[in-house]
Amino acid sequence: MFVSRAHVPESLRPDDYRQWPYSVPAVAEVVERGVEFTHPVTFLVGDNGSGKSTLVEAIAEGFKLDARGGRAARKAGNANPSKTALGEVLRLETTAKGARMLAGPRLKKKGFFLRAETAFSMTENLGGVPGYWEENTAEMSHGEGFLAVFRSMFRAPGFYVMDEPESALSFTACLQLVSLMHELGRSGAQVICATHSPILASTPGADIVEVGEHGLRRTKWDDLALVTHWRRYLDNPSAYLRHITDA
Ligand SMILES: Nc1ncnc2c1ncn2[C@@H]1O[C@H](COP(=O)(O)OP(=O)(O)O)[C@@H](O)[C@H]1O
Ligand SMILES: [Mg+2]
Repeated sequence: MFVSRAHVPESLRPDDYRQWPYSVPAVAEVVERGVEFTHPVTFLVGDNGSGKSTLVEAIAEGFKLDARGGRAARKAGNANPSKTALGEVLRLETTAKGARMLAGPRLKKKGFFLRAETAFSMTENLGGVPGYWEENTAEMSHGEGFLAVFRSMFRAPGFYVMDEPESALSFTACLQLVSLMHELGRSGAQVICATHSPILASTPGADIVEVGEHGLRRTKWDDLALVTHWRRYLDNPSAYLRHITDA
């Protein structure tokens, strides 16, 4: 473990929570109460717009992780364009190991931030670049390239932040990623991963934080709204489809 908690010091809390990102319930909860990381692998699970990316981006920034592959340009109104609004105020509490890594030289820092939006261009552009991966991922399929990237980038015991890494992956490839995450967790790495994949969230031994209108809630895989929806849907698609089609 490298990071044990993320929080916002009282002096940096806003007066007005109506403004983004504080208007997002999960962000408001982290600002008010912080969020603890107690397991080597933590998933933030929630619907689109629940605040997962906002949280993981700020956490990655807090650990000074390289968002290589290009950070998407932020929307206007951000004083420091290299930081997100939440990243400006979020502080990480590290373990002794985490503190040593943060204070050490950049090259000794083992960790990576994988953004869903930029991961694909990374697989195309960074193959063969020293420090990245050997395989020519441009010649692989989208999903194959992702897995090659995951395997070589996430080898050392470091701090890994991921945002919906399942985007390009098939069912089988997701299972392979589960195995990789599990391995990482056991090897002394720490993973914090935003996902809406019920497969990824089932990684054995992982902690699950459900993100939503309620803010944050630690929960079991079985109790995730996402899992309930998938179960019901696969059981009987028409129960959902009749609400959205005229059929
Ligand atoms: N730079 C931004 N400025 C204003 N609102 C934003 C910005 N980025 C995201 N949002 C809004 O914040 C909410 C949470 O977004 P996000 O963290 O991307 O959710 P998720 O990753 O869970 O889908 C959404 O309503 C989104 O539209
Ligand atoms: Mg997102």
